[in-house]
Amino acid sequence: MQHPASVDDVSAGLRSVGYLPGESTALVSFLATQLGKPVLVEGPAGVGKTELAKALARYLERTLVRLQCYEGLDEAKALYEWNYRKQLLRIQAESEGAGWEDVQEDIFGEEFLLQRPLMTAIVSQQPVVLLIDEIDKTDQEFEAMLLELLSDFQISIPELGRIEANTRPVVVLTSNNTRELTEALKRRCLYLWLDYPDLEHELSIVRLHSPELEDTVARKLVEIVHRVRELDLKKPPSIAESIDWARTLMLLGAGDIDQGTFNETMSVIVKHRTDLDTVAARVGVMLDPATAGDAA
Ligand SMILES: Nc1ncnc2c1ncn2[C@@H]1O[C@H](COP(=O)(O)OP(=O)(O)OP(=O)(O)O)[C@@H](O)[C@H]1O
Ligand SMILES: [Mg+2]
Repeated sequence: MQHPASVDDVSAGLRSVGYLPGESTALVSFLATQLGKPVLVEGPAGVGKTELAKALARYLERTLVRLQCYEGLDEAKALYEWNYRKQLLRIQAESEGAGWEDVQEDIFGEEFLLQRPLMTAIVSQQPVVLLIDEIDKTDQEFEAMLLELLSDFQISIPELGRIEANTRPVVVLTSNNTRELTEALKRRCLYLWLDYPDLEHELSIVRLHSPELEDTVARKLVEIVHRVRELDLKKPPSIAESIDWARTLMLLGAGDIDQGTFNETMSVIVKHRTDLDTVAARVGVMLDPATAGDAA
């Protein structure tokens, strides 16, 4: 298991497992491993929020425990629930002879508990990386429950008592900002805002994922994606789209991104009807050799 000693350590470690962190990403990740505080990662879709948690797990050589959040997620699915069927079978098996007192003591033991991700992360004997993905999809009640867990690293089960963490997980929470998270949650977390990367950074990421793509094509691709992001679109292309586009161009054996190639493949990076029109009109001009000088 890895014990990073410096920010540079973390930076190199993440790179070694295929994640190219920006400066603040490396810094916050390092602090998270040292301070034992959860990290809240916010930013637009497809900029590497989820992947950061996965990469941290690979680099730190820890198991990744993932809780995917959704509307209506409750404790029973996130923390633990009693295995009713098993309890029932136990009661039936014991029904002759044994009194309720005996059975009750029995069926509220750990054997009858179904562990959900949060509990799994807490009771694990080996420290894990806990990814709480898309926390903004849940409601505030859930957030409150989580707060308690993240500050004390313990769970209270009425029938069993308190269960304390055996080890401290590295916790990564991600949010797409669909709702404002509570101040209380933010206060307990380190904060990382992940935005679209600058040109050179994104070029490195694209190269990493598509090493076979020609350098000139990769650079042009990233330049175009950056131009497209400047337009007022419903859904600007993310790193995920850049990577997909690179793979597409490679498969097509494209040696350049000319007008024709762009028109054929732009639906890989732009996925709204109205956005397609905007991009065709604005970026098309840029690629047209006859007018390229004017657009630049
Ligand atoms: N810094 C990076 N280094 C390497 N790959 C990256 C980096 N950032 C993003 N990626 C790649 O971009 C893709 C999208 O990343 P990811 O799924 O983590 O985005 P996300 O921010 O969680 O998006 P969403 O909000 O839609 O869930 C992944 O394939 C990931 O590998
Ligand atoms: Mg994600």
